[in-house]
Amino acid sequence: MQEEVKSAKFVISNTDVKKCPTDGFPEYAFIGRSNVGKSSLINTLTQVNGLAKTSSTPGKTLCINHFLVNEEWYIVDLPGYGYAKCSKDAREKIRKIIEGYILNRQAMTLLFVLVDSRHSPQKIDTEFMAWLGENGVPFSIIFTKADKLGKTKLDANINSYRRKLLEEWEELPPMFVTSSENKTGRAELLKYIFDINKSIKTEK
Ligand code: GTP
Ligand code: MG
Repeated sequence: MQEEVKSAKFVISNTDVKKCPTDGFPEYAFIGRSNVGKSSLINTLTQVNGLAKTSSTPGKTLCINHFLVNEEWYIVDLPGYGYAKCSKDAREKIRKIIEGYILNRQAMTLLFVLVDSRHSPQKIDTEFMAWLGENGVPFSIIFTKADKLGKTKLDANINSYRRKLLEEWEELPPMFVTSSENKTGRAELLKYIFDINKSIKTEK
């Protein structure tokens, strides 16, 4: 039987990694360009509409938001990077929040980097992944908004992404194709998370 999300609730929102929950539950964080669909995907995964705040205007999520799932693991919604229209000061503030969290959060089991499946590889994303690599941060890639493309174009874009990454990486990270609109990839992504949670429990 497919493991499911039985409960999901908002716990805390803040800008300081030191104020994040201290119970040590594993957590899975979602990062990516502003407007890529992080918050929408969180709502699709949990099947709780409006749990994470979404907006068609970029720059909606500006804090580190913790959502407790099944009382034993967290989903973390992070602010988006690269929103050109906000001030330099605001961008710098967001960069500090993101970096502070990613580099210091011991409970972060895995980071999902979301990229829009409609676009060719963007420098801002590949540079961000290179930065993760330099800092030894494990990550997986999630392609979003797959409903907006036909299969041929979608496959072509994902292949071009693979080729681009292989210019710099010896191995590709796990990749998922998703849509919050029609739930593509939801079961696969949840299985991946549940399997990691199980392996953590076995290690203990
Ligand atoms: P910030 O918090 O601003 O960084 O953005 P975000 O990455 O959390 O994006 P959000 O989930 O708020 O979604 C941005 C816009 O994209 C919204 O208008 C969503 O309805 C739309 N959107 C998100 N995911 C999908 C998807 O899978 N398919 C389609 N068609 N639209 C999507
Ligand atoms: Mg958001």
